[in-house]
Formats: sequence, structure tokens, C-alpha cells
Amino acid sequence: LRLGVVGKLKRILLWLLVVYVSIPFIIKLCPSIQAKLVFLNFVRMPYFIDLKQPLDQGLNHTHNLYLEPEAGLKVGVWHTVPAQMWREAQGKEGEWYDSTFSSTHPVILYLHGNAGTRGGDHRVQLYKVLSSLGYHVVTFDYRGWGDSDGSPSEGGMTSDALFIYDWLKERLDKKPLYIWGHSLGTGVATNLVRRLCDRGSPPDALILESPFTNIREEAKSHPFSMVYRYLPGFDWFFLDAITANNIRFASDENVNHISCPVLILHAEDDGVVPFHLGKKLYNMASQSKSLSGHKVQFVPFSSSLAYKHKFIYRSPELPNILRYLLCLSPSLPPSHR
Ligand SMILES: *[C@@H]1O[C@H](CO)[C@@H](O)[C@H](O)[C@H]1NC(C)=O
Repeated sequence: LRLGVVGKLKRILLWLLVVYVSIPFIIKLCPSIQAKLVFLNFVRMPYFIDLKQPLDQGLNHTHNLYLEPEAGLKVGVWHTVPAQMWREAQGKEGEWYDSTFSSTHPVILYLHGNAGTRGGDHRVQLYKVLSSLGYHVVTFDYRGWGDSDGSPSEGGMTSDALFIYDWLKERLDKKPLYIWGHSLGTGVATNLVRRLCDRGSPPDALILESPFTNIREEAKSHPFSMVYRYLPGFDWFFLDAITANNIRFASDENVNHISCPVLILHAEDDGVVPFHLGKKLYNMASQSKSLSGHKVQFVPFSSSLAYKHKFIYRSPELPNILRYLLCLSPSLPPSHR
């Protein structure tokens, strides 16, 4: 009997070994698997959200709409008005929401990270915080995510973001428009801002929450790659497969081409995008020629706060931090940690 158990164990171990060794080869042969792992757009967590009903997420001053970045390609968008307008917003339709852009309130375009949709809980909580601070928040699902059409790609994400940015700019004229990216969305954000700066129209500020330097460094540090990180050939098997999909998210290069105020927020206990990558990006940004003369700020959040990868919205200091960036206050409060 004991031998039987040992035999079974051996067989299981052998299978695990076969799986462990095959995965790198499978990925090398089908690099599109790596693209799916980077985007995780098929993970619709939480599954039963009706994106047409932001009210279900407690957003009683949010309008769901669809825009068409390319002919025949619709993307789902949420527009949340500043929270002080919530009573007025009851029962209102698109036309009213559109007219609110003419008020003096600034607008934040929010670019979410991989996995899930614009209705993900940590995202919704941030919209609530920002709208309570008097901002409009406009968020959307890139092509391939949520109820948007199409399939994901870095180029597609960036051009969707650019389209929505221009759509907003048309409505805002000279009013402030800020860009906020989270996680993979920080890569989209720096791509977008680089494009805007290339054409001579930088945004009013860029906020990067839990950013990384580039996708290769991020993939290497991601918990998913833990069991392979030290395998010889890791770069060739895994990272080259990402590059083969034209996925770069090179924020480290982009910071040398952007010129607007930049704020980086990162929690020391971030287990998805490690803190040191956000710090490294900040060091690069603070040495960037194109950013010289602009405010470049790094705000770490101590591990004791347990904000990890998704919970910086909980920081009671966020209002002060934003006020500082957006020029309303001369100095960062000393208690921001
Ligand atoms: C609607 O949302 C606002 C802002 O988040 C909140 O203060 C208010 O209590 C909500 N009203 C209702 C009836 O839920």
C-alpha cells in the first residue's frame, strides 16, 4: 500500500514536471497566449455587472454611452459628473451630461489596467473619490474589454484613449483635462501623452498610479512569472513572446518625450507592480530633459497602510496630493504618508 502511494506521488510529480517544462515551449510557439496574459481582458470580474447600469455600482450621477473610435468599433464609456451635481443628475440623459462639460469643473480621463472592466470595484471607488473632489471622471473600456467591440492591442488601447481625449477636448476647450492611468493603464497613459506632446498639445497633468518602466521589466516581476523567473532562457521564452506581439508599454522611453506635470503614486506593498519599478520610472522622469521645468512628484505609500496594488484611493491624503499637483497649494503636506 505504501509503495502504491509513493508510486502515485511520483506519477503526479512527473506530470507536474512535464507541464512545467512544456509551458515555456507552448508559449514560445503560440506567443498570442502571452498577449492574453498581459491584457487579461477575458477576465470580466466581477462577472454579473451590467455596464449599462452604473447606478448598480452606487454611481447615481454617471451616464453610460458608446463612442466610435473607428468606423464600426464601439467602446463603452462612463461619464461621472462632480458629486455635488448628483441631485440634479437624477433622471438625466446624455444631452444633459454633455452640457455639464461647459461648467468650470476639471475633468480626469481615467485609463484602467488589465483584467476586469470600467465597473471594477477599486475603479468605481476611485471615481467616487475623484467626483467628490469636484472632478468629472470619464472612463472607458478599451477595444476588447467589457462591452467594447474588437480585440486588444497596445496600439488599439492607445488610439482609443486618444480618441476619447480628443472627444473631451472638443467639449472642454481650454478647461483643465488630466490623465490618470492605473497599472497597465499607466503604459497607455504615457503612450497617449507622448502622442499629445508630439503634436504640441500636452495635457494639463499626468497621474500614474502604480506604474512600471516597461512591459518586459513588469512581466519579469509579476507574481505569474515567479516559478519561471530563474529558469535559463526566461527572457527568450516569455519576454520575447510579449515583444513579438508588439507589446512594449515603454513608459521609460516615453518620459523623455513628454512635457507636463507628472505625479507618480505607488504603494510600497504593491504585489503586482513592484514599488521599485515605480521608483525607477520616477528617477528616469526626474532626469528627463523634456520634463525639466515641470513638476515631477513621487508619492510613496507606506506598507503599514496596506494599499497594495488597488487601494490607493483609500488615502485620506489624496485631496492634498492632487491639490499640490494641480497648483492649488504651494507645498506637499508633510503628513502625506
Ligand atoms: C448619490 O451619490 C452621491 C455622491 O456619491 C451620494 O452622496 C448620495 O448619497 C447618493 N444618493 C442616493 C440617493 O443614493
